[in-house]
Amino acid sequence: MRIAVIAGDGIGQDVTAEAVKVLTAMGEVYGEPLELEPLPWSADHYLQTGVTLPPDGYDMLRQYDAVFVGALGDPRVPDNRHARDILLGTRFELDLYVNYRPVRLLDERLCPLKGRGTADVNFVVFRENTEGVYVSIGGRFKAGTEDEVAIQEEINTWKGVNRIIRHAFAYAKAHGLTKVCMADKSNAMQQGHALWQRVYKEVAAEYPGITATHQYIDALAMFLVKDPGQYEVIVTNNLFGDIVTDIGGALQGGLGMAASGNLHPGKTSLFEPVHGSAPPLAGRNLANPMGAILSSALMLETLGRLDEARAIEDAVKAALMAGETTTDIGGTLGTREVGDAIVRRIRRPVEE
Ligand code: NAD
Ligand code: IPM
Ligand code: MN
Repeated sequence: MRIAVIAGDGIGQDVTAEAVKVLTAMGEVYGEPLELEPLPWSADHYLQTGVTLPPDGYDMLRQYDAVFVGALGDPRVPDNRHARDILLGTRFELDLYVNYRPVRLLDERLCPLKGRGTADVNFVVFRENTEGVYVSIGGRFKAGTEDEVAIQEEINTWKGVNRIIRHAFAYAKAHGLTKVCMADKSNAMQQGHALWQRVYKEVAAEYPGITATHQYIDALAMFLVKDPGQYEVIVTNNLFGDIVTDIGGALQGGLGMAASGNLHPGKTSLFEPVHGSAPPLAGRNLANPMGAILSSALMLETLGRLDEARAIEDAVKAALMAGETTTDIGGTLGTREVGDAIVRRIRRPVEE
């Protein structure tokens, strides 16, 4: 299997190096090597060449079995043009309409909520990933004056809403789950989110075994903090999904713990930690690599290599239990040492 690896910017470089170590070890231990091919696309590359990604960049990515991304975003590129092209562009061009963001607390000591344990934080967010406000349709008129008008449109299509909602229900059914919650802002956004309401009710009616609830996004944000145990599957739009999965990251111990997959089922998909490039931490051996490493497990899971995905998750859990962690979650190790500890735990069952 061939994997394109775009480490990107800031701590994207640091955490990707550790995910690569883990994936390399997996290939050796399980005897099915992964060809990990680094692509240099990043802020540095853009600033040096003026190119965010080559004209055939998306076609190049389609040739791989999967794409792994660290993070993109650099203060030297204030309009984030390269991140738009490389990350959002790939989501759009490869039509990666499912942003799959599991929120699983692996060690109760990491939960910031009083008295909550691993059973209380265990749900999946499906974020629509190809439309919403992210399409960047709009414009500015009289920019830079006091008469400036800025228009940013939100796109909701039947096709886009239907396919993400269907994916959420199908996932619930396939995993023996019985609760789906859709979050929108249909009380204020009475056009676009009426479409979400309609489609949600239609699809829910096809799944009588699943309890389909609805919460406005503001209430959902509150309940994620107050009572996260009520959720099994959450489905929402692109922007709301972005925001609630940062809350989800915090519930798991911090952004450094959160993993994601950008999927088009059956086609080349992209895997990345939920966090960004965290410039203050970059290159300092401080970033938590677990979100990136868990994203590589999601990648193997999606590629059908379930035993290896499970082995990575078990190794991460074991490292957590042993306190082999970075400082953001209370440990004393650096990024590289956490990667090494996880690799050791992957190799150990075979060596013994
Ligand atoms: P961020 O996720 O990079 O960091 C926010 C804070 O969370 C950090 O300052 C740090 O305290 C903590 N944090 C994040 N990841 C961590 C890790 N692995 N280990 C330890 N602590 C961690 O968000 P930001 O500061 O808002 O954004 C920085 C840049 O990253 C921006 O350019 C933004 O656009 C970009 N970004 C990219 C992605 C992506 O590539 N998928 C995601 C989010 C943000
Ligand atoms: C994420 C990020 C991106 C998003 C940014 C970098 C555009 O925050 O993947 O969560 O908003 O989708
Ligand atoms: Mn985000």
